[in-house]
Amino acid sequence: MVNWTQIRDDFPTLKRKIDDKSIVYLDSACNSLKPQQVIDALCYYYTNLGACGGRSIHSLARETTELRDDAREKIAKHINARNTNEIIWVRNTTEAINLIANALHFEKGQEIITTNLEHHSGVLPFHKVMGRKNLKLKIVEADKSGLFDIEDFEKTINKNTRLISIVHTSNTTGTTAPLEEIIKIAHDYGALVLSDDAQYFPHKKTDVQKSDADFCAVSMHKALGPSGIGFLYGKEHLLKEMDSFLVGGDTIEDVKYIDGKVVPTYLEPPHKFEAGLQNYAGEIGSGAAVDYLDSIGMENIEAREHILTEKLQKALESISSINTIGPKDPSQRSGLVAFQMKNIETTGDIANYLDSDVEGNKIMIRAGAHCTNPFHYHIGITPSTGTARASIYVYNNEDDIKLLKDALEDLDKIVNS
Ligand SMILES: Cc1ncc(COP(=O)(O)O)c(C=O)c1O
Repeated sequence: MVNWTQIRDDFPTLKRKIDDKSIVYLDSACNSLKPQQVIDALCYYYTNLGACGGRSIHSLARETTELRDDAREKIAKHINARNTNEIIWVRNTTEAINLIANALHFEKGQEIITTNLEHHSGVLPFHKVMGRKNLKLKIVEADKSGLFDIEDFEKTINKNTRLISIVHTSNTTGTTAPLEEIIKIAHDYGALVLSDDAQYFPHKKTDVQKSDADFCAVSMHKALGPSGIGFLYGKEHLLKEMDSFLVGGDTIEDVKYIDGKVVPTYLEPPHKFEAGLQNYAGEIGSGAAVDYLDSIGMENIEAREHILTEKLQKALESISSINTIGPKDPSQRSGLVAFQMKNIETTGDIANYLDSDVEGNKIMIRAGAHCTNPFHYHIGITPSTGTARASIYVYNNEDDIKLLKDALEDLDKIVNS
């Protein structure tokens, strides 16, 4: 049995008071809080090591290298990768997707399928290269609650499709795409699938062998880990076939100048993609984050969040002036609910009200278009109006949801009565 109350004690931010008010944190879909274990891992590197891990060979460098190797192994094990060479450290999901857009081989006229539910980071990297690489971008539409009809993928794919890039769990509707079915369709056509796991990885068990995803992109800052570090998972044979993306020190086996020409020989993945001195503390901290998630168990996290998400949606929908975005059946979403309130033109006003002082608490949510402008337009909401979004994680409880509900009822009274 997981002691969810005790878990809260691991998060120092929750013990803070700001202007004498307690923190009710409901913005984890943007950025999760960090447990002491992750903070300790970061501090360990900066306090005891601070050295280069990979280039130098002295004792501090060796220990740094060992901890980095351990961290990569922890990530690989956590997502059931076949080996550690399939994990490439990047800064975040955005960089991972840019890496694929730039480094995957495409032939002229090939097609990329993506969707209207993507985070901007899921579509812009492909849009940016499509002219240069002579590619066509096709969009499959989710319905207004963020659900896909698998037939739309079947109708859109063809023998020219090189890649389907899809947001696995949406940061706006909380819906999870039928990834395994999409992958089956893609593979039948010889196409590859990149899963944007920014919102899936923190909340559910990622198993790349079970899903058979070709690539997954993850940001560790949403999964209890440090900022500025994430990873790209890729099947080893695909990574080996790919071009480099960022190049420079640490990516090469050798460089020669021959007859006035620069002739580099690149290393095998993952090093071929990890240019320049890396975020050692971030990697080590990411290993600690995965240890922490594994100590709770992803299945336990999913089950707990399922209950809390339902309570969150019901609490919001009990207020008649609130209109929730996404499916009405809470079992079709996870971890977050975006919403609008009648007579509030800009949802930032909801977030500001909640953060001001509600019964001695500062309730923190996100408001805006969550980098999903195309989906907001799709449901008839202008990005400047946006949606307010409450999202939960391992440290949230029913009290947090009740405080949010009470505060929104008060706001409703102010605005709508
Ligand atoms: C679904 C999804 N994809 C991609 C991203 C981009 O993540 P990052 O900014 O960490 O690169 C986010 C961030 O909110 C997201 O929610």
